[in-house]
Amino acid sequence: MESTADKIDPKLLLKLRESLLSWFHKNKRDLPFRANKNAYRIWVSEIMLQQTRVAAMLPIYETFLKRFPEPKALQEASEDEVMKYWKGLGYYSRARNLKKGASLLVEKHSGLFPENYEEALAIPGVGNYTASAVLSIAYGKHYAVLDGNVKRVLSRLFLIESDPALNSTNQLLGNLAQEFLSPISPGDHNEAMMELGALVCVPIPNCSSCPLSIHCKARAAGKEKEIPTSKIVDNWMDLDLNFLFLKSSKGLLLVKYPGRRFFKTIYSLPFRLEGKHPYEKDVWVEELFEGPGLERNSLKTKHSITNHKIQLKFSDINDTNAAKIETILKKKPDLEFKWIDEPELREEFPSSISGKLIKLKSKMNQQPDLPVGKL
Ligand code: ADE
Repeated sequence: MESTADKIDPKLLLKLRESLLSWFHKNKRDLPFRANKNAYRIWVSEIMLQQTRVAAMLPIYETFLKRFPEPKALQEASEDEVMKYWKGLGYYSRARNLKKGASLLVEKHSGLFPENYEEALAIPGVGNYTASAVLSIAYGKHYAVLDGNVKRVLSRLFLIESDPALNSTNQLLGNLAQEFLSPISPGDHNEAMMELGALVCVPIPNCSSCPLSIHCKARAAGKEKEIPTSKIVDNWMDLDLNFLFLKSSKGLLLVKYPGRRFFKTIYSLPFRLEGKHPYEKDVWVEELFEGPGLERNSLKTKHSITNHKIQLKFSDINDTNAAKIETILKKKPDLEFKWIDEPELREEFPSSISGKLIKLKSKMNQQPDLPVGKL
């Protein structure tokens, strides 16, 4: 496809880049992954920042890198330990890929993140965005990043009014981003575009603070608030998740099962999907819930995972027979389970959901009058 930026006055491009970079140098946030140009640290930050806000990822990033300061440490750690350090970020497949990627770096690239684009793409979990970000920021390579923030900045700056969901629009924006990229400081340029999109050119833009506003075509046309056109389809699904606190003389049961809908890679309390949903039921979970002594309660709290609006609930089964439960679990070949001490739940089930469930449970203990039914 022909690039629109070809039609942009080269002098204007220079001016825009200059204004963008000088704004960035004055206004950029002091973030730990900007402290040096270590490709591994930048890679970890970019993976964590996918679907997670900077403020939420920062404390986790710092502890993660203290424990896994280089790829070898990540390669050698157990997956369970990596998941614990990932807790709070969600999307656990990203952590699993990071660990696999770290092994690849150690085994194939002498522990270093490759400088070559194709080799970077071969790392699990690394796509065009991450490859471009790491290679430009760490190694000064000339690859433009295109994330949601950058797309918004470019769409406004160059008045791109076509549907952002179309591949052709994406392609056009990708070409524009590449043309606009500073040949001298591609890493800073990419970060500056992301920073501008995060701090100034936000959905309701703060044009008075924008270094590019005098050249912004959307602003000139009075369309800065409408662009990019949002065709957001409401694809949220309501779902009830009922978690089971199942206790035997061996402790509290946790399970891990790659075939299930959520928490494929970490241990969690067993849970079942309730209400109207399109997903298949797990027979072994149903068997656990059908066990004697199930105590339900009416407490609920909210949570969201990807496009699911979730009502979290819990049930209890106390003093059950461990051997019987293990017979049910062992029927499922790829299911792993363990019995833990209840106070270890937050650590062993590394998701914010465990914290919410603990709170809910203590609420129930403080309110013994709530309707409780024995089944
Ligand atoms: N979002 C993702 N990576 C970023 C970065 N390096 N700077 C600013 N925002 C970002």
